[in-house]
Parts: sequence; structure tokens; C-alpha cells
Amino acid sequence: MLIKNRPAWALPESQATPESIFLNRRALMAGGAGLIAGAALPGTASAQGADPTLDLYPAKRNETYTLDRPVTPEADAASYNNFYEFGTSKDIVAASKRLVTRPWTVAIDGMVEKPFEIAFDELVRKLPLEERLYRFRCVEAWSMAVPWTGIPLKAFVDFAKPLSGAKYIRFETFLNPRMAPGQSARWYPWPYTEGLSMAEAANELPLLVTGIYGKPIPTQHGAPLRLVVPWKYGFKSVKSITKISFVSERPKTFWEGLQAAEYGFWANVNPEVSHPRWSQASEQILGTRDRKPTLLYNGYGEQVAGLYKGMTGEKLFM
Ligand code: MTE
Repeated sequence: MLIKNRPAWALPESQATPESIFLNRRALMAGGAGLIAGAALPGTASAQGADPTLDLYPAKRNETYTLDRPVTPEADAASYNNFYEFGTSKDIVAASKRLVTRPWTVAIDGMVEKPFEIAFDELVRKLPLEERLYRFRCVEAWSMAVPWTGIPLKAFVDFAKPLSGAKYIRFETFLNPRMAPGQSARWYPWPYTEGLSMAEAANELPLLVTGIYGKPIPTQHGAPLRLVVPWKYGFKSVKSITKISFVSERPKTFWEGLQAAEYGFWANVNPEVSHPRWSQASEQILGTRDRKPTLLYNGYGEQVAGLYKGMTGEKLFM
């Protein structure tokens, strides 16, 4: 993910290195991480004390969602992250531990019957939690397959009671440059924001994720609450959400605000539509040396293709 107007030192490693070399090195690193059997997993220990939601895990798995590939080893997924609030490299586990996740409040506002705030610990016990195995495809052409635990976004939308005029749902990450040093970089449009259409939000697939690998989600993956939208590029899956707004206009998102020609609003996975600077035809499987052909809508076309019928003028795949 490249930003034109930031200094050279801030280039992420995926841009500073030719892509093929970067991907090989990453596969090696990820493969290596998997070999450290029994080593403590990054992010599982917390300086913030015992997680008050521990008793909710593991949640019951919804067996409807199956994979066509092995689950990514936890150590690989947990040590190769994008969380720009804590740095532009993939190695942000230690930095992300500065994220204070309690108390954590989520504000629900905009076009709803009644705006309100709710403590995360209350929200997570109010709505149904389930585990799902999903593929996850980053726009940088790597992918993983992980067990997420979360609240179906559809259930959350019903709970929030949006008004009929709401056309989009907008998600916002916390803003606290003292806790998250990356937010001091003023060339980014902080806070990180993302959005979906209301039709997408009502689809069965998006999850408001609270856990991963049968445990509460660690900081590097976006504790305590993040979105996961498995048919879109990973940047849509916004981490550490503090505000959810229902709005009538399409929200401007973080990456769109930086580089609209490369990262659009819809960002649906499509192997035939290249990123302006690299192919999306295949993906590197995190933690292995394997590449796999990328699937249209990341393999979730049956559930989501209908959402885009007739939207011919839209750039649905970037
Ligand atoms: N959310 C926030 N707040 N900040 C980020 O930098 N990166 C996005 C997405 N959500 C990001 C974010 C990108 S580019 C990806 S690929 C995924 O998070 C990575 O999720 P993971 O680190 O849990 O694999």
C-alpha cells in the first residue's frame, strides 16, 4: 500500500522491495515462524490483565463456512500484520501492545432511531457470537485462512435500528497518537475509516470480530472489535472500532482518501482486475511457499455477486 506524498523512509516493505522478492522473503519468514513449535504466540499475553470476555471462547463454530485450504498456523497470522497506527512494517505486535483496550466504548450514531454508546463488554454479551472459518485476501496479494469469532454484522445492524434513509454504514478506528505513534504521521487521513453499503452490511458474511483462534482477539489483529468482510480486500476490514455511523452518502475511506486511483470504495476481490502496480491473479499463502490462483469475490460469489447486479458504472474491483 503506497502513499505518494510520504517520505521515502516510510515506504512499507512491500513497496521498498520488488514484489517477487518481498513475497519470497515473507513466505520464508512466515514458514520459519511456524517452526518455532511451542513458542509463546505474540499477542496472547497482555499487560492489561485477564480479558473479561475469556469465558465466551471458544464460541460455537458455524459449520456452514468451510475452507478449500488448511487453516493458517496461528503464529503466522499473529506475527504478520497491517496496522498502520503502530507502524508501516508487518512487525507491529510489540508496538500494538500499547493499545489500551479497556474500558472500550463504541458510539453508534447518524441515521438511527436513537444514537447511543455501549461498552464493548456489554455489546459482546448482548448479541450472538459464533466462529467462522474464512479466507482473507490482502490487496498486497497475500492471503490467510483463519477462524474468526464475531457477531454477524447483520445482527448488529438490527440492534442499532437504522432509519430507512441510511444507505451506508461507516466504521471508525480510535484516534490517539500518544498511544498509537503511527497516527502522528500527518500525511495519513487519521482516524482509519471504512464503509459498506447497507445492502452489503445486511449480507450474511460480514462479521464484527471479537476473537480469533478461539480466543479474544489480540491487539495486533485489532482488539477488541474489528470488521471482517471476506469477499473484499483486507483493507476494508477495519480494526479497533470505536464508532459506527449510519449515513446517507458514501463515506470517504482511509485508503481512498490517500490514493483513490489504487484503493477504491468497493474493493471486491477479482483476479482479473490488476492493482495498478501488480497482478491480482494469484496470492501467496501466508506461512507457506505456495501460491494459489485468486478467486473472484475471494470465493464468496454465491453469497455476494447478487449485491452488485446492475452496478455497471461502478469500479467494483479496486
Ligand atoms: N485497520 C486499521 N485501523 N489500520 C490498519 O492499518 N490495515 C488493514 C486492515 N485493517 C488496517 C486496518 C489491512 S491493509 C489489512 S490487510 C488487514 O487489516 C490486516 O489484518 P491482520 O493484521 O489482522 O491480518
